[in-house]
Formats: sequence, structure tokens, C-alpha cells
Amino acid sequence: MTSKVLHSFLEENIMDLKERGLYNEIDPVQGANGPTININGKELINLSSNNYLGLATDERLKEVAKNAVDSHGVGAGAVRTINGTLDLHIKLEEKLAEFKGTEAVISYQSGFNCNMAAISAVMDKNDAILSDELNHASIIDGCRLSKAKIIRVNHSDMEDLRNKAKEAVESGQYNKVMVITDGVFSMDGDVAKIPEIVEIAEEFDLITYVDDAHGSGVLGKGAGTVKHFGLQDKVDFQMGTLSKAIGVIGGYVAGKAELIDWLKVRSRPFLFSTAVSPADAAASTKAVDLLIESTELNEKLWQNSDYLKEGLKNLGFDIGNSETPITPCVIGDENDTQKFSKRLNEEGVYAKSIVFPTVPRGAGRVRNMPTAAHTKEMLDKAIEIYKKVGKEMGLI
Ligand SMILES: Cc1ncc(COP(=O)(O)O)c(C=O)c1O
Repeated sequence: MTSKVLHSFLEENIMDLKERGLYNEIDPVQGANGPTININGKELINLSSNNYLGLATDERLKEVAKNAVDSHGVGAGAVRTINGTLDLHIKLEEKLAEFKGTEAVISYQSGFNCNMAAISAVMDKNDAILSDELNHASIIDGCRLSKAKIIRVNHSDMEDLRNKAKEAVESGQYNKVMVITDGVFSMDGDVAKIPEIVEIAEEFDLITYVDDAHGSGVLGKGAGTVKHFGLQDKVDFQMGTLSKAIGVIGGYVAGKAELIDWLKVRSRPFLFSTAVSPADAAASTKAVDLLIESTELNEKLWQNSDYLKEGLKNLGFDIGNSETPITPCVIGDENDTQKFSKRLNEEGVYAKSIVFPTVPRGAGRVRNMPTAAHTKEMLDKAIEIYKKVGKEMGLI
């Protein structure tokens, strides 16, 4: 029997979300998640994925994944510390370390798990974390899990960061102080001011942590935001995901060998959760190999994103201040945002609305994610549809 109190909690809150336009419907997708997507029998131009380089459906990755199933089976079997580490996981970590330009790498089951794992392995209740106010939910949750004092920093405000770092360090209240930021902010596409952050960190001996989920495969010719700024030796934690540009699933932290050693003995999702499957590890390794060999996909991604941005901007949409392929169309009101996304969908573009709590209230947007796999024809068609629906709704 369902608990009455649970039932009324769920009923009331789901209704409330629906009334406020904050209830997100999840669409069932038939077939692969590529530059086009099939939803309810209708083919749409897909501008909603994080599959930046189109690798999620790449034939070369599919082939190594199939081979890994043949050679290693479908599951990793157990937690790595209990049942040993598959050679495929070791290969993946070595390849990622080469790609990121760090001494070592530890891989996890997801990007979200990395932030659950790595922050709390190092920070505790006697420490403080300076966290950008627009950091991703997984950073926020990872910081909370550590029980460290969380000090919110105004978004990319270096004066605020410096003042708060000074205050925290000079208070003498904390054993360690960390500064943590997204490399690329996922809802706006702006890039963290890593050189200034590193300078402040050096001045106050802060631990530095960059979540590069949206920078890897995109900036630094694919190697990420930290490499883009040439600061691999100055950032303690470079976290990344294998689920976005790499096209597969999993996450990793890159850094000095002693840090990775510590995470292998102290980070709980590594110690208590089974690693990604052999096929995932092999496919991710292949993806990284491809990015080391050639920047072709990365260049195509930037060409496509410049093209789409230009097209939407010329139509008169507010595309914010993105410096990366992430292209928001800021609408504002939550209900209008959802209506806009729905109309785009009806006309053939799959671009999801993003509303509170993912972005602040009143900052609803439709977020477009162009990829290397889109053709010019697809982007032209998408821009045409934006024009039609934007005019119809009086947005441009
Ligand atoms: C900044 C950031 N960090 C972490 C994650 C989580 O990554 P994953 O999907 O691999 O769990 C995301 C994904 O949305 C993200 O945008």
C-alpha cells in the first residue's frame, strides 16, 4: 500500500509544477540520438544533445564497442578495488591523461559521480569551498556532500572571488580552501576566467577544481578549457565527462599522480560502485584517440556553431553571451519558453526549453546545441523554422 503522506506530497507538488510551467515532459526517442532524432514517428532536427562531435553514433566507436563485448563481455563484473581493474579501464585512463596533459587520470561511471566522488574525498567540514553561483547541480551536490562551508561567488566576478578568498583564508577558520567552477557554463556557454582564478588561487593557496564537462572536446582543440589556457600544471582537478563530446558514458578526473592515488583509495563512488562496461571504456578510448589524431571534428563543430549563432542573431533573437557552441535563445517567461519550444518541435526542430530550477526564474530559454554532425541544410532548415515561429509568437 502506498503511504498516504507520500501520495499527497507527490500529487500536490506535481500539480504545482505543472501549473507553474515547470514540469518537464520527457520525450521517448526511437532509434539513435544523432543530428536528427525520431520522436513519436516524426524526424526532427536535433538541437538538444550534448553529442558535440557526433561521436555517439560514430561507426569507428561502434566497432570497438562490439569488439569489446566479444572480448570482455557486457559488464565490468564488480567494483574495481574488489575484482581488479580491466585492461580497458587502464587504457582509457592512460589515453585520457595523454589527452589532458596530466600525470594521471581516474575514471568514474558518470560526470555527476565525479563531482560526488572527488570533492568530498578531499574537502571536509573544516574546509571551505568558493563556488561560482552558476555552477552545475552536480558541483553543488558534491560540495554539499563534503560538508565544507560553501561560499557562493557572484558569477565570474573576480573581485568577489578575491575578496571572499582573502576573507576565508585570513579568518583562520578553515584548514583548506577550494575554488570550484564550470569550465564552460552549460546554460549560457560562457567560459570561466581560469587565468584569473589561477592567479587568485596562487595568491591564497587555494585548491583549484574545474568541471570541464562542456569544455572537453570543444575548447583547446578538444582537450578542454584548461588546456585552452595552457594551465594544465596550475589546476589541481580537471574533471570531465565521457557522455558529451566523447559520445559515450562515464567521467574522469585528471591531475597529479598523488591526487589520483588518493581518489582511488578514498573516493566513494570509485570504491563502492561498479565501473563502466567494457564497451563503454573501449568506445571512449577510441573517441579520445580520434581527437588526439585529428582536429577535424572539432573544427566542424565550431563552423556549425558559428553558422547557427549568426543565423539566429540576425533574426533578432537574444543569444546571450556564449563563447562556445552552446547557443541559448533567451525568452524569459517560463510558459512562453515552453510554448516556443513546443512550436519549434511541431515545425521540425527539437530544441528543449530550459527553465527554473535549471536556470534562474524568468530566465527561461531554448538551448541549441549544434554539433559536428549537422549538415548546412539541417541548420538552414532550423533557422527558417526559428524565423517562422519567432514571428508567429512576436519574439522577433
Ligand atoms: C557542468 C556539468 N558537470 C557535470 C555533468 C554531469 O555529467 P554526466 O552527464 O556525465 O553525469 C554535466 C551534465 O549535464 C554538466 O553539464
